[in-house]
Amino acid sequence: MNAVTPQRTAAPAPVGLLAELTHRCPLRCPYCSNPLELDRRSKELDTATWQRVLTEAAELGVLHVHLSGGEPTARQDIVEITETCAKLGLYSNLITSGVGGALDKLQALYDVGLDHVQLSVQGVDAQNAEKIGGLKNAQPQKMAFAEKVVALGLPLTLNSVIHRGNIHEVEGFIDLAVTMGAKRLEVAHTQYYGWAYVNRAALMPNKAEVDRSIRIVEAARERLKGQLVIDLVVPDYYAKYPKACAGGWGRKLMNVTPQGKVLPCHAAETIPNLEFWYVTEHSLSDIWTNAPAFTAYRGTDWMQEPCRSCDRREKDWGGCRCQALALAGDAAATDPACSLSPLHAKVRALAAEEAAENPPDYVYRTIGSNVRSPLKEEIPL
Ligand code: SF4
Ligand code: FES
Repeated sequence: MNAVTPQRTAAPAPVGLLAELTHRCPLRCPYCSNPLELDRRSKELDTATWQRVLTEAAELGVLHVHLSGGEPTARQDIVEITETCAKLGLYSNLITSGVGGALDKLQALYDVGLDHVQLSVQGVDAQNAEKIGGLKNAQPQKMAFAEKVVALGLPLTLNSVIHRGNIHEVEGFIDLAVTMGAKRLEVAHTQYYGWAYVNRAALMPNKAEVDRSIRIVEAARERLKGQLVIDLVVPDYYAKYPKACAGGWGRKLMNVTPQGKVLPCHAAETIPNLEFWYVTEHSLSDIWTNAPAFTAYRGTDWMQEPCRSCDRREKDWGGCRCQALALAGDAAATDPACSLSPLHAKVRALAAEEAAENPPDYVYRTIGSNVRSPLKEEIPL
């Protein structure tokens, strides 16, 4: 580590906008990244406001729009919103569960210029997948949806969130992606915030399983070069260094919630005393540059040791603020997923302990259940 005085980093233009169009979703995944208190339909932004937000995003320099949720096709105006992206020259990525009305809307989405589809798959075995997603008969709907995506010639990415309930299926996810004709597969080990934090003990795999899954992915990457790209997100609790969460706070991404609150990352609302601005009251450009929630952890000025003098501080930007809060009780602390954090050994031990116990039942994602984390009494570490 070099002792260098950190410099304030200017805000670069955001590359991506995550448009959480709705929190409504037919699935109830126990690792959902949506907040525990989900927005109700009556609070959702209307079509004209989303179109204005997208226009402002394009002006700001955003290149990619991720149409997400919840399930974005639950919005009646998903086709109009997608068409707006196309007209503005924004690359649109539909992040979908492929169930409910998704298939019925796919042709119209293609016709107005949808660029890419990212389909979630909860498991390979239908029974297991439907247990994880909490919805019967979901798997055949997903398969039919994927088939149509590929038939239309749209690039398809499969997203599999990995945890102890499906880590034995990593080979199967790879075979499924090849069979479906996907261009890309995300093997994304669960990140423990949002609903996944509540369900951490039910989801945490053990280290041997994690290592095996990484070996399988590495071998498949070699074997399938030129046919399938596999992105691997390793589980934070077992990593040496954390990832640059959201690409670094306030550096690459804006996340607009269904009711128009703008967040630097999915879970930012878990950090107390952050002031979030709404698209109904401020322009996107003003929010990006000046909103207190965005400036709070942008750059390196806010860092404490060991991040403050670490060579990697502009690579991973100190890891995840939300995880630092959840585990260390301080959002400005070094992410305890980092091996240089004084809390790292405790995090490792906690993961090993939870993975060794019988998994509790899932707490399924639902609107209005007023769920509170059963882990609260264990933190900070
Ligand atoms: Fe360095 Fe902080 Fe990143 Fe750890 S989290 S590698 S201490 S910058
Ligand atoms: Fe908020 Fe990582 S989820 S910074």
